[in-house]
Amino acid sequence: MKEMLKTIEQNALQSIRNISDLEQLEKIRVQFLGKKGELTQVLRGMGKLSKEERPIVGQVANEVREKIEKELEKTKNALKTAQKDIKLKKERIDISMPGNKKVIGHRHPLLTVKEELETVFMNMGFDVVEGPEIETVYNNFDALNSPENHPSRDLSDTFYITEQILLRTHTSPVQIRVMKQIQSPIKIVSAGRTFRFDEVDDTHSPMFHQLEGLVVDKNITIANLKHTIDMFIKELFGSDMKTRFRPHYFPFTEPSAEVDVSCLKCRGEGCDCCHKTGWDMELLGCGMVHPRVLENCGIDPEVYSGFAFGLGVDRIAMVKYGINNIRLLFENDMRFLNQF
Ligand code: PHE
Repeated sequence: MKEMLKTIEQNALQSIRNISDLEQLEKIRVQFLGKKGELTQVLRGMGKLSKEERPIVGQVANEVREKIEKELEKTKNALKTAQKDIKLKKERIDISMPGNKKVIGHRHPLLTVKEELETVFMNMGFDVVEGPEIETVYNNFDALNSPENHPSRDLSDTFYITEQILLRTHTSPVQIRVMKQIQSPIKIVSAGRTFRFDEVDDTHSPMFHQLEGLVVDKNITIANLKHTIDMFIKELFGSDMKTRFRPHYFPFTEPSAEVDVSCLKCRGEGCDCCHKTGWDMELLGCGMVHPRVLENCGIDPEVYSGFAFGLGVDRIAMVKYGINNIRLLFENDMRFLNQF
């Protein structure tokens, strides 16, 4: 029996040493040490031995089992280490290799200007609100005191969706929405897209952008309006900039004015750009909110007053960046946009 045990030991050790993966190793373990394994079979036959022989053979059997187990353990650890090494080598990252650079975009110059304008006004205590691009004819014209026969209402100037609904032709309908909702005090700006039936040329596009401002409270005067506009222009373009108010007409403000600012190129000296006048024309429209507009929104014009202004965001972007063709802002030509 001792001989058999020795043979099993040799066979087992031999098999284990030839092994190259963990699965095979487990098979070998079962083959020798499992319930029906070779060693177990031999041990089962021990009952037939004499009393004297049993402990001796038992001891040998235990030794054989231990040796096989030790060898199994050793090989298992070696295989595991080897596997780990292979895995590590495979998954190794060369951190010196150049990365896959993702090209991320950047803000469109118009959005940059819009946010810059909003920031200037926020710093002056204005809230920023939004209004819809699809508006009612009432908010866009009637509530703003636009006479029935005003030329801007014409089909050839306005994109009508139905008789009552249109694409807003300016951001001024936001005034109506805010006044109806908040009543007073109000101090807001609102920027966004506006639409007019314009032929495309260097300075016109059927889709353009405006920023609207509205202040309503007790004791608001034209002095507040002039100071606000003046501060805004200085904040945006520099403290040496001057503003000039020229009388104008808007149905929803009275009195109304158009504002010119110092030519950005010569800063008032006079150059070819400003036809030697020193002024950049019509940057902004403004005025004191017409009493009838306040009334239309349920605000008592005997108690409250206000001012409003509107400016072209595209126009400001063009002046700021020296862009001479509005189409460039909307064509999405990367050669143009990448400059910003
Ligand atoms: N809504 C006017 C326009 O589109 C601009 C404006 C706004 C004028 C507010 C006065 C007050 O031309």
